[in-house]
Amino acid sequence: MEININGLMKDYGERTVLNIESLLFESNKLYGIIGPNGAGKSTLLRIISGLEQSTKGEILYNGCVLNKPILKHITFMSQRHYLLKTTVFNNIAYPLTLRKYHKKIIENMVDEIMMDLQLFELKDQLAISLSGGEAQKVALARALIFEPQLLLLDEPTANIDPNSIKLIEKLILKRNKEKKGTTLMITHNMEQARRLCDEVVFIENGKLKVQGKEKQVLV
Ligand SMILES: Nc1ncnc2c1ncn2[C@@H]1O[C@H](COP(=O)(O)OP(=O)(O)OP(=O)(O)O)[C@@H](O)[C@H]1O
Ligand SMILES: [Mg+2]
Repeated sequence: MEININGLMKDYGERTVLNIESLLFESNKLYGIIGPNGAGKSTLLRIISGLEQSTKGEILYNGCVLNKPILKHITFMSQRHYLLKTTVFNNIAYPLTLRKYHKKIIENMVDEIMMDLQLFELKDQLAISLSGGEAQKVALARALIFEPQLLLLDEPTANIDPNSIKLIEKLILKRNKEKKGTTLMITHNMEQARRLCDEVVFIENGKLKVQGKEKQVLV
């Protein structure tokens, strides 16, 4: 899905936290969004996801303004993720259950992603009893499972151990290449941006500072 942003502003009270004149995310690419704490990265993703309204400006999704059918193709994994008070399996299956997939297909898809992220032994555990990193992996599995056309990830590997980071990166790359969806991923990990992203967007004080191939942006 192509995302075209024009004249986007977000104010909280007197303060403008986001002011982006123009920004284009092309279809099927994987973008890294980087910048200091408080720069406006999460705000940008929340607005693109439709969870939050901008103060001014326009975002076009494949040339259209956001509507219900488009929303169905977007997944957002927020920095503060919330799991449902049920098992790991049910949490990961949730986007598929919501879209009324057949039970057997749901089982196969959930099993596959649990294998990929080495979550299998947690299958029947209640989400509430998971460790922080485990819960984050479950939230990520839930975000990745239905193969969205636009995947928005807010610091997906913060608090994750090095081995699990490798699994997650592999899965993000695999999904991005195979399923041909656009991925926007906020990260503070420059090495990760270098490893994964086609392009990097650097945001500071709510403004777009640089956008380009990771080699041009990350020196
Ligand atoms: N609901 C709100 N009310 C007032 N200010 C807010 C609100 N949400 C965010 N802000 C402010 O907007 C600014 C941008 O926040 P945002 O969460 O987008 O930053 P970020 O770039 O994601 O930072 P981090 O790297 O720390 O996650 C911050 O200064 C934050 O305090
Ligand atoms: Mg943030």
